[in-house]
Amino acid sequence: MHPQSHIRKHGNEKGAEFPPDDMLDIPTAQRTAPPRAGLVDPFGRRVTYLRVSVTDRCDFRCVYCMAEDMQFLPRRDLLTLEELDRISSAFVERGVRRLRLTGGEPLVRRNLMQLVRRLSRHLESGALQELTLTTNGSQLARHAAELADCGVRRINVSLDTMDPDRFKRITRRGEFGAVMDGIRAAQAAGIRIKLNAVALKGVNEDELTEMVRWAHGRDMDLTLIETMPLGEVDEDRTDRYLPLSVVRERLSREFTLTDLPERTGGPARYVSVGETGGKLGFITPMTHNFCEGCNRVRLTCTGTLFMCLGQEDAADLRSVMRSSESDETLHRAIDAAIARKPKGHDFVIDRSTNRPSVSRHMSVTGG
Ligand code: GTP
Ligand code: 5AD
Ligand code: SF4
Repeated sequence: MHPQSHIRKHGNEKGAEFPPDDMLDIPTAQRTAPPRAGLVDPFGRRVTYLRVSVTDRCDFRCVYCMAEDMQFLPRRDLLTLEELDRISSAFVERGVRRLRLTGGEPLVRRNLMQLVRRLSRHLESGALQELTLTTNGSQLARHAAELADCGVRRINVSLDTMDPDRFKRITRRGEFGAVMDGIRAAQAAGIRIKLNAVALKGVNEDELTEMVRWAHGRDMDLTLIETMPLGEVDEDRTDRYLPLSVVRERLSREFTLTDLPERTGGPARYVSVGETGGKLGFITPMTHNFCEGCNRVRLTCTGTLFMCLGQEDAADLRSVMRSSESDETLHRAIDAAIARKPKGHDFVIDRSTNRPSVSRHMSVTGG
């Protein structure tokens, strides 16, 4: 039995954004013409991972991520769920094996579960290895069971502190209890959780050891992230920047950390923690450049493809897609974009620059 064969297919529900689609029952293999060439960039890196930001909106305003009064995109600029599916599926046809939905907060996008359900057909066909999500957890309790039912096996949840008051200060409007409920619901549904915590000087640096214990004690992995200079926020990032080399040094006084060889093609480097038996990741774009193994590109909710999180160059796939019912021009535009994928980012955080290296916020590109 195929591991995903329990996935139920739902028809077009009332009020759904998708039009009726009888194609859903035809296996992908019979629908798609001859397989298309995979995506390889000028540096020989295979692009097998697409991150899709489904909305730039979020119900939180994390201090390192957003300004208090963020201007969000007008809703009419967003790709419809159907268009998000069309572009994502074109990438799957080109050999993308992992899809991650991000935001903003992906679960605040209306009817997002319809997109997840729809994309899950690529899990069933075997074209896609993983369909997953990076979320702040605020709405997870409501959606966990259905996500699991759609074949989502793993979710990344952003959580920077275990202290409810601190949580309120960092997120400006988040409810800590709701995130805890979300994590519990996801685990109960059999979904593995990886926590992401941004290391912030003078904010959560004193509790990172405890967070390692807490996460590992509940069978969750934890990844620590250095704050990156993306978009204007209200505070000075230089004041909050905490190099993970310092954090690692501190953690190694408490724990036995052993480097793990595993690479996900992502930016994280992993260690095992002897005392907890868990896995701890470090994402260090500022102190260590990991771009040489980059396997990913990013689609925004307006159909702009960014070939690197840390560069401005982008390709507008929305107008290309809308210009034709066939996907031929879309595939050509994807080829042209991948041919321009840059070697890497050039992030800097220092007092002399004091400007973000990249003007768009993480919530636009989706991390
Ligand atoms: P995995 O798919 O499990 O490897 O997840 P991930 O760690 O790549 O994804 P997640 O959405 O949890 O992102 C964690 C952090 O990594 C976020 O802050 C992302 O912005 C950052 N990140 C992800 N990909 C890149 C990248 O290519 N470059 C940089 N600089 N940061 C990245
Ligand atoms: N630097 C580092 N991480 C960030 N995130 C959002 N903005 C930034 C930033 N400027 C993190 C969130 C989440 C992930 C998707 O990105 O905390 O874990
Ligand atoms: Fe929202 Fe995530 Fe940004 Fe926080 S870090 S404001 S949860 S998008």
